[in-house]
Amino acid sequence: MEKYLINPNQKISKINKDIYGHFSEHLGRCIYDGIFVGEDSKIPNVNGMRCDVVDALKQMGLPVLRWPGGCFADEYHWKDGIGPKQSRKKMINTHWGGVVEDNSFGTHEYFELCRQLGCDTYINGNVGSGSVREMSEWVEYMTFDGVSPMAELRAKNGSKEPWSVKYFGVGNESWGCGGEMDPEYYGCLFKRYNTYVRNYDGGKPILRIACGPNVDDYHWTKQVMDKVKNKADGISLHYYTIPTGNWTHKGSATDFDLNEYNSTVCKAYRMEELVSNHLKMMDSVKPDHRVKLIVDEWGTWYDVEPGTNPGFLYQQNTMRDAIVAGLTLNIFNKHADRIMMANIAQTVNVLQAVILTEGEKMVLTPTYHVFKMYKEHQENTLIGSFITTKELYSENDNKKYPQLVESASVDGNGVICSTITNTSADESAEICCQVADFNAGEIKAEILSGEIHAKNDFENGNSVTVREFTDFTKTADGFRALIPACSVVKFLIK
Ligand code: AHR
Repeated sequence: MEKYLINPNQKISKINKDIYGHFSEHLGRCIYDGIFVGEDSKIPNVNGMRCDVVDALKQMGLPVLRWPGGCFADEYHWKDGIGPKQSRKKMINTHWGGVVEDNSFGTHEYFELCRQLGCDTYINGNVGSGSVREMSEWVEYMTFDGVSPMAELRAKNGSKEPWSVKYFGVGNESWGCGGEMDPEYYGCLFKRYNTYVRNYDGGKPILRIACGPNVDDYHWTKQVMDKVKNKADGISLHYYTIPTGNWTHKGSATDFDLNEYNSTVCKAYRMEELVSNHLKMMDSVKPDHRVKLIVDEWGTWYDVEPGTNPGFLYQQNTMRDAIVAGLTLNIFNKHADRIMMANIAQTVNVLQAVILTEGEKMVLTPTYHVFKMYKEHQENTLIGSFITTKELYSENDNKKYPQLVESASVDGNGVICSTITNTSADESAEICCQVADFNAGEIKAEILSGEIHAKNDFENGNSVTVREFTDFTKTADGFRALIPACSVVKFLIK
């Protein structure tokens, strides 16, 4: 029997809702087909945005959306994506399949999407192939409310009112697709470009995100932090879970054996080590914690589905992905005092997507359900919690990782939200939960569970879905429960 202790008196930090953020790039069928079908499409839409997808994302609770990339961001020239659609420049999407990008989804469409979703904005600027002036003018175009060339151009294109930009990324993966730079050089460039990202919206300064490390590149973190520490609000980490650890053969999204399942979970759990170590490195440069950590690309990355464009990164999604999402979001919650935002890659039809579409059809993936279950954590206060757990072993990695990963938070009315992920493919876990100063009138629970390969698809529909969970009993100071294998369980303790 595992012991699970929750202490609502130990209030640690607010969980920024943006930890539950998403990322949508001009990549494959994420934007086009997945989100934006155009006003003339027979698929029901509002101003070109798919109604089914927007509704589903709203119900899931999508707080912030990163756009336009990714690698695409460092080749994106925003002026190509404004003005009358028929005269917008067409370009080659060199990173993603070499297809023609017609720029029909641009700045105005992005803000319209965020308006429909009711979410905050995160724009990623172009350092790799763009000029300082181009970046500066984009910020003026989006946010300046007065008389200026860019504000006039915006009004001419139909938006008299400026928009609000919450986060602005100064470059993406500048160590790789964003320009193959050294950290010292990028750090200097950040300062130069960032100087001209002006705060026009007096009350709300833009939060500036510096390009952070790839996986465990602690040297990058240290060098960039050293340069940007007084200017950046956040530094971004990218970490993808690749089951085989091999970029050429990453493994199938649906056809995997137990070892590969265990290795995926073990590798996903590495997020804990990466976050902790990068935070330590950041502290060694700037101990006041003012610069926050952003994990603006994370998730599983498999081989593309057979027969699909290799440049489109389209993959299916199973209960294995739900476990990765559940444990990762619990890790982020636990670091809520230092992580300001995280963005899973990528919202629709790409990598660990929450939604897949095929023409008019749409399915919600197991990952979608985890995000929806965890919605209560958004803006709650992280509270003290601890669980004892068996350690599991991944043969492929020769490494141990925990069977149970949890986090707990409390809302303004004292309702505790506890989420537990059982990462084991085949072993349930009995837990005994004690809540300090327990006076719960009611405990309600939900579960997402299934065999590790279980998925939703266009043939069989949405069979993997959230159910009420009743396999627990209340005790004098908490509850006892049997957490099934391969499951994500949420308790709401009122
Ligand atoms: O999410 C796919 C790609 O992964 C992004 O464009 C890039 O930033 C990363 O390498």
